Parts: sequence; C-alpha cells; structure tokens
Amino acid sequence: MVAYEIAWWKRGVVYQIYPRSFQDSNSDGIGDLEGIRSRLDYLVWLGVDAVWLSPIFLSPMADFGYDVADYRVIDPIFGSLEDFDRLLADVHRRGLKLVLDFVPNHTSIAHAWFRESLSSRTSAKRDWYIWRDPAPGGGPPNNWLSNFGGPAWTLDPVSGQYYHHAFLPEQPDLNWRNPAVREAMYEVLKFWLDRGVDGFRVDVIWHLIKDREFRDNPPNPAYDSRQAEINRFLQLYSADQPEVHEVVAEMRAVIDLYPDRVLIGEIYLPLERLVTYYGHDLSGAHLPFNFQLIHTAWNAREIAALIHDYEIALPEGGWPNWVLGNHDQSRVAARVGKAQARIAAMLLLTLRGTPTLYYGDEIGLDRVDVAPEFVQDPWEKNEPGLGLGRDPERTPMQWDQAQYAGFSRVTPWVPLAPSHDHCNVAVLRDDPQSILSLYRALMETRRKHLVLSVGDYAQLFTSAPDVLVYERELGAERLIVLLNFSSHAQEVSLPQTDAERSVLLSTFLDRSGESVGRAVNLRAHEGVIVEYC
Ligand code: GLC
Repeated sequence: MVAYEIAWWKRGVVYQIYPRSFQDSNSDGIGDLEGIRSRLDYLVWLGVDAVWLSPIFLSPMADFGYDVADYRVIDPIFGSLEDFDRLLADVHRRGLKLVLDFVPNHTSIAHAWFRESLSSRTSAKRDWYIWRDPAPGGGPPNNWLSNFGGPAWTLDPVSGQYYHHAFLPEQPDLNWRNPAVREAMYEVLKFWLDRGVDGFRVDVIWHLIKDREFRDNPPNPAYDSRQAEINRFLQLYSADQPEVHEVVAEMRAVIDLYPDRVLIGEIYLPLERLVTYYGHDLSGAHLPFNFQLIHTAWNAREIAALIHDYEIALPEGGWPNWVLGNHDQSRVAARVGKAQARIAAMLLLTLRGTPTLYYGDEIGLDRVDVAPEFVQDPWEKNEPGLGLGRDPERTPMQWDQAQYAGFSRVTPWVPLAPSHDHCNVAVLRDDPQSILSLYRALMETRRKHLVLSVGDYAQLFTSAPDVLVYERELGAERLIVLLNFSSHAQEVSLPQTDAERSVLLSTFLDRSGESVGRAVNLRAHEGVIVEYC
C-alpha cells in the first residue's frame, strides 16, 4: 500500500479552527478568514493535512454561527466570498484540504425561509419548519427540551402554533421530512463543492429526523439536577430516528458526485448507535465523529477497552476516527492535566484511523475561567453555574508575547488565557521539548510511518499498572506504542524477538534512537514509540 493510494481523509490529520478565535486581521477582536489565511504556513509547519472551519456563514450569532441566516453568504465578521475563495486557493496551494461546517438541522430565525414560514399558516414555506398545535389543554405540544435548557418549543402568538427548536429559540429546526427542504439543502452543498471545498462536518446530523408522531420522551432515571436540563429525558423520540439514515445517504450521494470529498458527521451517541451512521453498505458518513475519548475515564484499562470495543463495533470497511477535543468540550489539558496531555497527543496520533485535533491543544491551551460578566455562550447564560459554558475552550489562539498574544491588536471577544506570555507558538516552537514540538514530531512520524495511520492495531498484554501497550503493523513494518497513564515510573516488558529495537519517539523528546532491550523503562507520564530496526 502506498500513501497516495489511500484517501487523504484516511491518512491525514484534521485540524479544527474556531474562526472567531484563531487570528483577527481587522482589529475587531474577532478572528476572520484573512487571519486564518495569514496563518496557513504555521499549519503546514505543524504538519496537519486538512482544516475544518466552524461556521463562517451569515449569522446573527445567537449561537456564534450555528444559527445560519444564509448558507451561501460569508458573515461580514469573517470576511467576504472573495476572501473565502482566496483562502481556499491558498489552502490548496499548500497541499492542504478545507472542510466546512454544514448546519442542516436548523437555521437562524433571521433566515428568509423561516421568516416566510412564520408569516402565516398557509405560507408556501410553512412546512419547511416544524409547526405544531398546542397540547390539548394548552402549552407546548410535547415534553421535548432544548439542548440549551427550557422547552424545545416556542409559541408564535399570531398563528397560535409552536415551532420546534432542538437548540435556542433563535435556531428553528428545519423539517427534513419535506423533500423541498432536502433539495434546497443539497443545493447548498453543491454550491460549496463547486467552489472546491473538500468536504463537510455536518452539525448534529443525528438530530435531523424526529418522531413522526412527536411522542413524549421518557424520563431519564439517571438524571440529577447538577446536569444540563436536557438530561431529564432520554432523547428517544427527538433524535436518532431510523429514517435519518436515508437523509445521510442522500447527503453522501451529493458528496460522491465530486471526487475525493469527505462527509463527517457530528454524533453524540453510544458506540453501537454511532457506528450505524456509516450507513447500510457504507452509504452514510465517511467519518461519524468518534468522541468517546472525551467521555471515557482517563486510565489505561478504560481506554484499552474503548479502543477494543470501537474496533469491534466498526462495520466492515468502516474507517475509524478519534477526537480529543472541540469547541463544545472542555480542553483536553483541563480534563487530563498538563502531564497527561502529552500521553493524549501520542494516543490520538498513533491510533488507527483519522485524528482530529482542536486548535490550541497543540500548545497545551488549558481551560480559561471566564468571569460571569464576560460570559458569551448562550448555554452558560441559560443554565449558569453548572459548568456547561463553552467559552473556556474557545479562547484566542496564542501566537506570541504581544499584548493580545498576537491574536488581535484589541481586546478579544472572549478572555485570553493568562498563560499567554509563556504558552504561545513563538516560545514553544523554539523549545525542542515543548508540547508543540511533540505534536509536530508526532505528525512528522505519522507521515513517515504509514503504519501509524492505516496499520492494524493490536493491544499487547502488560502487567505494568496503568500502562497501555499496543502494536501497529503494516506489511513488514511494526511499531510498539507504550503509554504510561500513571504518575510512577514503570518497567514494561516487550515481546521477545531477535530483532533490534530502538526508541522512535518519546513524549519527552529526549531519547530517540536509544536502543531497547527486553523491557522499556517509562518515566512518570511518559509515552514511547518503539521501532524494530
Ligand atoms: C453542535 C455544535 C454546537 C452548536 C450546536 C447547535 O453541537 O457543535 O457548537 O451549539 O450544534 O448548532
């Protein structure tokens, strides 16, 4: 197998940019497309293959771009269509790919479709959204809740009907049972595919179809009041309905009209449900996002079990993928700690399948405490104090030691991490043992050793506590990865062999080439890749 025969989205590393927070070029405190364009050389230097941009389309920004008012227009905050075309051309010129965020479940209330739908019960677009009469006796049509708290229904006093919104009232859900909606949205995909984008990450893809009869969701016996309100009920009827797979397959068919594009689905479901999104005979998403590493307890036993269960659950030919963080989840460094963040990096980049990296994780960006008066995220505003807010993982990228970390010349839209004077690209790139140097070395190693992205995975037994050991194998090449999840030094025996072995890479970046005998001594929190010479 040679690298160029393998699809880019199988072999490459995806890098997610939250555009508001990457680079501001026009000094309004908010990142933009020109800013991203000016940082492309960094991404090449880092070694990623594809860039996924969170939404950049016209939006009132009630949910920071996940409320789209026009799918074909770039929001002026981010730039213009010309800026976009220039960015795309520059991305391609550097041999990178560009993936856009597609938000099909809902629009903004400011979208012309919704305004028309709202205008009267008999409007031609009434059925483009989900309108229902009040429950008998009044009130919302059923017990469905919004993911951001409160009912998932808002009353239009003029028509006397409620519209459904799985998220904010400013994000009305489209009616994907209506073929006209599907057609219109597939035209949107084609609009961007024709411009040359390399694929889409589809927002909340498992939400698109709801129960035809709008039955009440059953109560969740495990709910407790410290959780988000949405967890009061099991989302049995409001999402993940069997008919959704037909829609996903239709989207995939649109994508397949163009060569070499990718369809990624955002799906928060248990493993056995998640893998159904590969679709019948792989007619669904190329990559149903696998967020399991974010939610699994951070120890060797649980992670080993997760990898095993995922590998087993994958359908024949279904390509694995792994995600450590995104704009909705607490930063990996905050979840597992600074020392284990290096283990997380090595794990992500040595597992079989496509890794997705969240901007800033490569410099070890930690959570940032956002004082109540600076809160931006609507979820935090709706359900304060439960730790649900997403601002802490959306803080500006830290480039250098300038006042605003080189992100902007003015105060950024969300607070900057206090660490920015020492935790920034300019400082860390000159430090051969920094986490940034580690990420770069891992991606370089992955590029050189195809076995790391596409080779077989097999867990190896070890008696060392809290250490995960696995082998990757492709043809004649074999690598062993040893990850010490514990804060103790550990001696780990390796399978017997006559072949010579040496350290290819350590998470501390200080023992490459060291020869390895029958055992490897791992320091606390150390990960090592061993190669057969
Ligand atoms: C997805 C996005 C999230 C957004 C929500 C509603 O989960 O990742 O940021 O708030 O959908 O669009």
